[in-house]
Amino acid sequence: MREYNLDRIDLRSDTVTQPTQAMKDVMMASVVGDDVLQDDPTVRQLETKMAEMCGMEAALFVPSGTMSNAIAIRAHTSPGDEIVMERTSHIYQYEGGGYAALSGVSVALIDGEKGQLTPAAVAKAIRKAEGSLGHYPDGTLVCVENTANRGGGTCYSQETLDAIAATAKAHGCAIHMDGARIFNAAVKTKTSVKRMLRDFDSVSICLSKGLGAPVGSLLVGGKDFIAKASRWRKLFGGGMRQSGFLAACGLYALEHNIERLADDHRRAQHLAHEVSKMAGFSINLDAVETNMVYIDSDMGAKQLMHELGEHGIDVLDVGPTAVRAVIHLHVTDEDIEQVIKVFGQLAN
Ligand SMILES: Cc1ncc(COP(=O)(O)O)c(C=O)c1O
Repeated sequence: MREYNLDRIDLRSDTVTQPTQAMKDVMMASVVGDDVLQDDPTVRQLETKMAEMCGMEAALFVPSGTMSNAIAIRAHTSPGDEIVMERTSHIYQYEGGGYAALSGVSVALIDGEKGQLTPAAVAKAIRKAEGSLGHYPDGTLVCVENTANRGGGTCYSQETLDAIAATAKAHGCAIHMDGARIFNAAVKTKTSVKRMLRDFDSVSICLSKGLGAPVGSLLVGGKDFIAKASRWRKLFGGGMRQSGFLAACGLYALEHNIERLADDHRRAQHLAHEVSKMAGFSINLDAVETNMVYIDSDMGAKQLMHELGEHGIDVLDVGPTAVRAVIHLHVTDEDIEQVIKVFGQLAN
């Protein structure tokens, strides 16, 4: 049964979810205060809970994942530094070049596989001013995205995360995780976020994606780092007042919407397996690990989007021949069967 009454099957992103009635009830009952004056008990509760879940000292509630990553980069680096990340990562592709504009850092890009870095590639990419007669920038931060969105929603192995963190540390770099969908990775790999982040300095976690809250992300890290981050949040315009209404949705999401991510993953698998058998479409099944399905189409992405749209199904084009379908809270088993049926009609 559909929990939220949408008249289309919207697979563009897991950001399209709307608060359910139960979440709205919790929101309306929440106690709020002016969070810039540190008066909002619900925001405090959310920050404390998320810090505990991550095994870190402190957390900061911010309006978006983009701002959270931008603050992390600003707090970890100085202008003229360099950060290391994967070419298809969200920070590099979709955050408006914020790392350059807001932090004045350059980027050392790595071509990963399925959106993922390797420890060896990270070691090779880190440059240091020292010993270069001042020619190189100072590589001071490594950013890892888990799940890796454009990699297909793929999950890092714990072994690789630990090894990348060790490599970063050995080269005098901080290590940040863009964990916009970290709970998808945690559910899929059956690893606690605390363990996953054991050797990380900071993580950005989104509430407004698979977890189904309307707004907000948390930046989590050590006490001193979060104190610095708090100043940058204010400077970037992210200090919010009665944001407890939003934090309440986040608390509800952490309690009710983590384990159910396994349903999204199961539905994504089913969709991917069925469509991959159809002529005219191809899917890298190895990359379908969580709630995303990237589909290559002989008819081209724009045409496929149009055809699906005519049947009440929305997807996003992510290249000339590729579209992305993302499974989330409002997508039911019946919806998936309907999507498979429509793909079957479009297959050649
Ligand atoms: C991996 C990843 N990081 C960060 C973000 C940014 O989040 P927001 O849209 O809240 O700015 C997104 C958004 O889709 C994302 O997929």
